[in-house]
Amino acid sequence: MGGGTSFPREPLDRNKVVIVTGGNTGIGYETAKWIAMLGAKVIIACRSETRAREAIKRMKEEYQEEKQKETNGIIQDGDIYVQFMQVDFASLQSTKEFIETFKSSGTKLHTLVCNAGLGLGPLEFTEDKNELVFQVNYLSQFLLAIHLIPLMECSDADDCRIVLVSSDGHKLAHAFNVSSIQGKQLTEDNFECFRNYGDSKLYQVMQMYFMNRRLKGTNISVLSTHPGSVMTEFGRNMECSRTCCLYCFAYTMKFCHCVKTPFEGAETEIYAATAPQLKGTRDVYYADCKPATTSSQSRNMENQEALLKVSLEMLKDYIPDDIVHRWSTKS
Ligand SMILES: NC(=O)c1ccc[n+]([C@@H]2O[C@H](COP(=O)([O-])OP(=O)(O)OC[C@H]3O[C@@H](n4cnc5c(N)ncnc54)[C@H](OP(=O)(O)O)[C@@H]3O)[C@@H](O)[C@H]2O)c1
Repeated sequence: MGGGTSFPREPLDRNKVVIVTGGNTGIGYETAKWIAMLGAKVIIACRSETRAREAIKRMKEEYQEEKQKETNGIIQDGDIYVQFMQVDFASLQSTKEFIETFKSSGTKLHTLVCNAGLGLGPLEFTEDKNELVFQVNYLSQFLLAIHLIPLMECSDADDCRIVLVSSDGHKLAHAFNVSSIQGKQLTEDNFECFRNYGDSKLYQVMQMYFMNRRLKGTNISVLSTHPGSVMTEFGRNMECSRTCCLYCFAYTMKFCHCVKTPFEGAETEIYAATAPQLKGTRDVYYADCKPATTSSQSRNMENQEALLKVSLEMLKDYIPDDIVHRWSTKS
C-alpha cells in the first residue's frame, strides 16, 4: 500500500535529537516510535500528558516485540529514548512556554517534524482569536520552527531538517487571499471544513518555500510531505456539511488509491526526516517516499511572502526583533 518504497532501515546517530509534534497517536506515533527504534532521541510534543505517557509505554512494548523479531536497522541494546513535553498548539502562550522549556533544557535539536494537526470539525476560534485549524496546523508550528531554528543552526550537525506534514488536501484550498488567512470572515454558514483544512495545509507548503529561501547556505533544510489517506483518529471531530462531504468524496476519489495503516502513512514522514540521501534537499514535497507536485498557487512566491508577512505580524508579541528582522528579509 505504501507503493513499495519506504525509509531506509539504517541506524541513526544516538545523539540525534528529534521533536515529533502530535507523536502520541496516528501517523506521529509511528514516526516517533520508528525514529526512536532507529536510535535517535525523540521528544513527543503533545497536548495530553496521559495520552502521551500511554503512547510511550506502548512504543516501548512494541520496540521489545520488534527486537524479538530482529527487525532490520533497529537498536539492539538498551531501550528506546522517547520523552514527553507538553504543548497545546491552540494557544500561542502554551507554544511559547514549550519553546522556553525546551531552550532552557540545553538539549540540542537536529530534526523537527511538524506532524500535529486537526481538521474536519466545526468552526472554532482560539483564545488568540484565530480560526482553530489554521492556528494548530500552521501558525503555532511556524512559531515553534522559527524559535528552534537558531538551536539547529548551532548544533554540531551538518544535516538538520524540518519536515512539515501537509496533505494533498492543499490542492483543494480556496484561492489564496491574504485578508482571509486568519479566518475572521468565517461563520457557520460559509465554513467549509474540508477546504478550510486544505487552506491550512496550503500554508504549510508555502512555509516550506519561504523558509528555504531564508535558510539557503545553512545546515537546515525544509521538506514537506503528504502521508496519503490514513486510518487514524483524524476524523474524530468530523462534522460535515453537504459541501464538505462532496469535497471529502472528491479528495478520496482523486488522490487516494487506497487507505493506509498509520505505519504506512508514517513511512514518507520518516523517510523525509531520516533518509541520508536527502541531506541538503530543499523544496521537495514527498508522497509515497517520492517527490510529488505541489499546487501552482503554493508555488507563487508573491503569495508565500505575503503569508510570511502576515504571520510575523500575527506573532509579533511572541517573537523578538532579531527573529522578526531575519524572517522579514528575503535573501
Ligand atoms: N490521516 C490522514 O488521512 C491524513 C492525510 C493527509 C495528511 N494528514 C496529516 O497528518 C498529520 C497527522 O494526522 P493523523 O492522521 O495522525 O491524525 P490524528 O490521529 O488525529 O493525530 C493528530 C495528532 O495531532 C495532535 N493535535 C491535535 N490538536 C493539537 C493541539 N491543539 N496541540 C497539540 N497537538 C494537537 C493530536 O493530539 P491528541 O491525541 O491530543 O488529539 C494527535 O497527536 C496531520 O497533520 C494531518 O493533517 C493526515
